[in-house]
Amino acid sequence: MRIAVPKESVSGETRVAATPETVKKLASSGNDVVVQSGAGTAAGHPDSQFTDAGATIANDFAATVSGADAVVKVQKPSSEELAQLPEGSIFVGYLDPLTDEDTARALAARKISAFAMESIPRTTRAQSMDSLSSQATVSGYKAVLIAADESPKFLPMLTTAAGTVRPAKLFVIGAGVAGLQAIATARRLGAIVSGFDVRPAVAEQVESLGAKFVVIDLGTDDAETSGGYAKELTDEQKKLQTELMSQTVIESDIVITTAAIPGRKAPELIPEEVVNQMAPGSVIIDLAAETGGNCTLTQAGETVVHNGVKVIGPKNLPATMPLHASQLYAKNVSNLLELMIGEEGAVNVDFSDEILDGACLTHGGTLKKEAADGSFAPPAPVEEAAEESTTTPAEG
Ligand code: NAI
Repeated sequence: MRIAVPKESVSGETRVAATPETVKKLASSGNDVVVQSGAGTAAGHPDSQFTDAGATIANDFAATVSGADAVVKVQKPSSEELAQLPEGSIFVGYLDPLTDEDTARALAARKISAFAMESIPRTTRAQSMDSLSSQATVSGYKAVLIAADESPKFLPMLTTAAGTVRPAKLFVIGAGVAGLQAIATARRLGAIVSGFDVRPAVAEQVESLGAKFVVIDLGTDDAETSGGYAKELTDEQKKLQTELMSQTVIESDIVITTAAIPGRKAPELIPEEVVNQMAPGSVIIDLAAETGGNCTLTQAGETVVHNGVKVIGPKNLPATMPLHASQLYAKNVSNLLELMIGEEGAVNVDFSDEILDGACLTHGGTLKKEAADGSFAPPAPVEEAAEESTTTPAEG
């Protein structure tokens, strides 16, 4: 199999879909790996590391993907890149499978067998390929570090000759992969941590990390889909949640929000009236910024300062830690590729495998997701920003 690893072209994307470690493994099992020059530089991997691992280096995108059986990327291909993918080849990367219908149709038109990293089933067998988890781990960790940096307070309790410093109170809303990592990181830094999720099943996980689970009864005993995701709340439940959660938000020095429903706009959980009651110097890190935000004031990629409260909406946090984010992502990708390699290195995509079937977006000129789901979800609308707020570029 000839596997191509292009350089990412989206601004700010520092990750790479293969590392010298994964190239070495793929090359040693008989695959030809071609890496675009500079693809790994931002992630700490110069071309020489890839050649040492057994890859050849190509100068540009066209030369990299020429004759490839499989092209692996982090971000979806641009329209220029898509037009250069060899017809009938495999593409692996993030593809926004629930919302980006145009890319899906363009991939189908080129008869690409496209596999969306977002659609890999969240099953035990697929865990080693689950990049939503591996990259959310990076985001949850980094969110706490940004919060600690932006907060005017210490996170741990300190007993000093000049007096005792109380620990910061940190509240995490949404205890999925990113939220649990944020809780673990904040606990290591010594904050008093609490967490909430609509899926009551995660209470035990929150508590096992040394945090308090905030009990808010929304009547959501069946809050989880069969895939392990949260179901969208009714408008009444959303209102009740905002009301019941507001006191915890107001009393917190730092709030990290991660609440998400796949393919939908993020639920709005912190309205402006609640931010108005937070103490100046408080920090909100909204990890749902790119899908509309969990706080009404969030603007993706910006820091909004509202009555002294910083509302930070980072974009693409994994790209701020490209070495480890790429290490994990590349491993997820190579594990998926290995499922597609048959005897003697030939391409062999077996759609009776639930992982390949679940991740496949287009194949043989047709949209597999459309066939399965009926239609695409509409793109998530993003709210207008509040007028009296000031903005500065945010980290990430
Ligand atoms: P996600 O990024 O889609 O959502 C983040 C969190 O927000 C979820 O925990 C969700 O329940 C929560 N949420 C949604 N609406 C909310 C609201 N209104 N208020 C508070 N919280 C809200 O989820 P993520 O992190 O990608 O994980 C999804 C699920 O998949 C989790 O249950 C996770 O444990 C499971 N999983 C299972 C794996 C396996 O191998 N079995 C591997 C990885 C994840």
